[in-house]
Amino acid sequence: MASESGKLWGGRFVGTVDPIMEKFNSSITYDRHLWEADVQGSKAYSRGLEKAGLLTKAEMDQILHGLDKVAEEWAQGTFKLNPNDEDIHTANERRLKELIGETAGKLHTGRSRNDQVVTDLRLWMRQNCSTLSALLCELIRTMVDRAEAERDVLFPGYTHLQRAQPIRWSHWILSHAVALTRDSERLLEVQKRINVLPLGSGAIAGNPLGVDRELLRAELDFGAITLNSMDATSERDFVAEFLFWASLCMTHLSRMAEDLILYGTKEFSFVQLSDAYSTGSSLMPQKKNPDSLELIRSKAGRVFGRCAGLLMTLKGLPSTYNKDLQEDKEAVFEVSDTMSAVLQVATGVISTLQIHRENMGRALSPDMLATDLAYYLVRKGMPFRQAHEASGKAVFMAETKGVALNQLSLQELQTISPLFSGDVSHVWDYGHSVEQYQALGGTARSSVDWQIGQLRALLRAQQAESPPHPSPK
Ligand code: ARG
Repeated sequence: MASESGKLWGGRFVGTVDPIMEKFNSSITYDRHLWEADVQGSKAYSRGLEKAGLLTKAEMDQILHGLDKVAEEWAQGTFKLNPNDEDIHTANERRLKELIGETAGKLHTGRSRNDQVVTDLRLWMRQNCSTLSALLCELIRTMVDRAEAERDVLFPGYTHLQRAQPIRWSHWILSHAVALTRDSERLLEVQKRINVLPLGSGAIAGNPLGVDRELLRAELDFGAITLNSMDATSERDFVAEFLFWASLCMTHLSRMAEDLILYGTKEFSFVQLSDAYSTGSSLMPQKKNPDSLELIRSKAGRVFGRCAGLLMTLKGLPSTYNKDLQEDKEAVFEVSDTMSAVLQVATGVISTLQIHRENMGRALSPDMLATDLAYYLVRKGMPFRQAHEASGKAVFMAETKGVALNQLSLQELQTISPLFSGDVSHVWDYGHSVEQYQALGGTARSSVDWQIGQLRALLRAQQAESPPHPSPK
């Protein structure tokens, strides 16, 4: 029987809660997202209760049927919240009681919202990780396809944002794709640690009524069972890990966005963002702004803020469940929504981006071949340190004479080293330059092809590793 206060926990309370406190305490505005997981968890738990002899088969069927009805109402948008519904768990149980009567009161036997909420959250996050993982793989695949199609386009590679060496445009794309594959692997690892069943831990001490946790695990298709009820009800490592995963992934995406914003400026003019991912200025008619990329870059701050916020909430908490832990959910929902949007927009941007290969080619300058000039001398037998010095002298000579490095005559180069001969002219070819980097991981075509092959194999393996979780019965 619900208490005088109308609360499921209200037996020992007299009077009413201050309305401000009521609102402050309530989490239903956001944890309603967990409705499906909550029903799944409760269905599994009622099976556990039946096996333990705490529900008759008829009572279990009544509860299962009632829970299906609750789920149906949520799915159809007809579930009516009432002002006393503090969170999704109390809302669903309250409705179940309205639907099936007093038997509903048996569902919570030996269970606490402490093990219930963390079970729900794990179920929700497990599913969500599969969704995000698919979106991330889609982005990586789009990048790899683009890298494959455009691998003969050359452009400047930068360090310190200064022109460094000629590279393939594909090599740049793949550099970002490779970082994202680590995020993709990391997400699957986080998902494995999410996929552990806490139900049956009760409030703190465990379950005293003989509920078979192995049955609960199998019902909910979890990969393992938590080892300790005190830890199970309070640890939110899996939430922190998820938020860190998102922060690092956003760090990678913000770097790629920043490169593309720069490459899209008139000053670089290497790429042009599709209109579908740009906006105009309300004042300057000529403007086309890369808002999609700027927003991707900015969301890193929001996501990291959630990660830092949760860690701060967890720091110094006393053992086991404290209401502070209710803060975990908004972080998870917000970050999940953000990641989903960012990954889809990034995929759209990459797949519709136009490149200006002539501008990319024009941006290559002979000074970027100074390293190649040193390698030329190395191949003639000069120690690299000396060759570096000799090439530096050539750069200085060209600068002093006001000519490009490749405009120095053979005679001039020979004043620096007698090892220079007619074949030095091959150095001044950007295609030849990138083709030298054939060691695995370099920018030569064979190595770029190898990278593409490796990434495709990785995507295939990850897909096989992460089958979408079937909705548990
Ligand atoms: N809404 C709560 C949360 O999100 C559910 C658990 C409440 N447990 C409790 N002992 N008050 O954490």
